[in-house]
Amino acid sequence: MQTRLDITRRKGAGDKPYVLSVSFVTEDENATVATALTAINADPTRRDISGQPFEPISWECSCLQKRCGACAMVINGRPMLACDARLKELSKNGTVTVEPLKKFPVVADLTVDREPMFAALNELKLWLESEGAVKAQNTALAFEASRCLQCGCCLEICPNFYAGGKFFGTAAAVPTARVIAAAKDASEAARGYKKHFYNGCGKSLACRNICPAGIDIDALLVNSNAAAVWKRHFGKAR
Ligand code: SF4
Ligand code: SF4
Ligand code: FES
Repeated sequence: MQTRLDITRRKGAGDKPYVLSVSFVTEDENATVATALTAINADPTRRDISGQPFEPISWECSCLQKRCGACAMVINGRPMLACDARLKELSKNGTVTVEPLKKFPVVADLTVDREPMFAALNELKLWLESEGAVKAQNTALAFEASRCLQCGCCLEICPNFYAGGKFFGTAAAVPTARVIAAAKDASEAARGYKKHFYNGCGKSLACRNICPAGIDIDALLVNSNAAAVWKRHFGKAR
């Protein structure tokens, strides 16, 4: 199998992007974009399609098993995990385009700085300050929310999210939904959800089918929306 990869590169944050075209040949039918990037970087004789040598491509990965979210990037125009992006399925006329996520500052090539997403979680104070007590009817929701990889794919396609803004997007709403499902007093989490998600979300659910973990975003948002507007969840602190 031969695939041409058109990879958007830039040396550093302020540099102008350009496209590097590389031909990747493999007999592995299950080869992914992550397989290709690993092999290309490991080859000291690497050349682009015009025969020019080039420096290794900066990108991030860890588990290579769809479990850590580190390898999220934009492939053929859609945010996805490089380790889950099979070349055979994605190749259009033998070509696959690979770009960094656009909602975060680029560090170099395909590596982005996801700090704004983690800073949002910090601001939401997503930890239990009282004893946790998941209600039986919330067990499935809490488990569902715990599957979030913090990959940022849902932020990429959200029209209302930009890094550093007050709207934190689904990547924050999902972990908040976990606290809302698990905390005895969910008022703090519900307030944060209302301020940084509910009030700014257009509720188009454009984010529902993009999640590489297949999280049931609808179910989580429905439960948290109720907590955000239902007085009982705010208690005396309102
Ligand atoms: S429903 Fe729309 S506005 Fe709300 S988080 Fe999803 S994509 Fe963004
Ligand atoms: S909700 Fe899904 S797409 Fe969004 S950060 Fe979590 S795992 Fe990624
Ligand atoms: S490297 Fe962990 S999800 Fe792809």
